[in-house]
Amino acid sequence: MDPSEFRRVLGHWGTGVAVVATIRPDGLPVGLTANAVASVSLEPPLVLACVERGSDTHDFIGLAGAFTVSVLAEEQEALARRFATWDVAEKFRGVAYREVVTGAPVLEGVLAWLDCRLWAVYPGGDHSIFVGEVVAGDAREGAPLIYYRGGYGRYTP
Ligand SMILES: Cc1cc2nc3c(=O)[nH]c(=O)nc-3n(C[C@H](O)[C@H](O)[C@H](O)COP(=O)(O)O)c2cc1C
Repeated sequence: MDPSEFRRVLGHWGTGVAVVATIRPDGLPVGLTANAVASVSLEPPLVLACVERGSDTHDFIGLAGAFTVSVLAEEQEALARRFATWDVAEKFRGVAYREVVTGAPVLEGVLAWLDCRLWAVYPGGDHSIFVGEVVAGDAREGAPLIYYRGGYGRYTP
């Protein structure tokens, strides 16, 4: 299938929006906007995140052996845009985060978050499929940021 047609069709798969992040060996946080995130297993609790092999974040997830998933709320579109485009050194500037269990950064104020220990890595074409065992997580009241057909939107019950 032609890549642009693939994109157009998959654009109809409405998703939430997350920041997948990890920590570099020098202690700097890195991360990227991701919607290729899904639950995998209940026991043990596993999630997956598909990360482009060429991204700046990719190699550091393997090095750290951990990643976080910070699920963005509807008022956090600016964070989604920042983590999708900004220079790696700029992304976390002024963004509050904390380390919970693994040492990977959880963004403050997000709708929900998961802290994951890397459980397996599978090849996925130009992406890697990182499977993480969830060791901690939480969620708050609020509404999610939605991504659909190349644009951001809101969830209306
Ligand atoms: C809504 C949205 C969802 C995205 N989902 C993913 C994804 O699941 N995996 C991925 O590798 N890149 C995804 N991207 C692209 C990355 O966010 C983008 O390439 C980012 O700049 C990579 O950052 P890095 O090179 O600092 O790691 C997405 C972008 C947007 C706007």
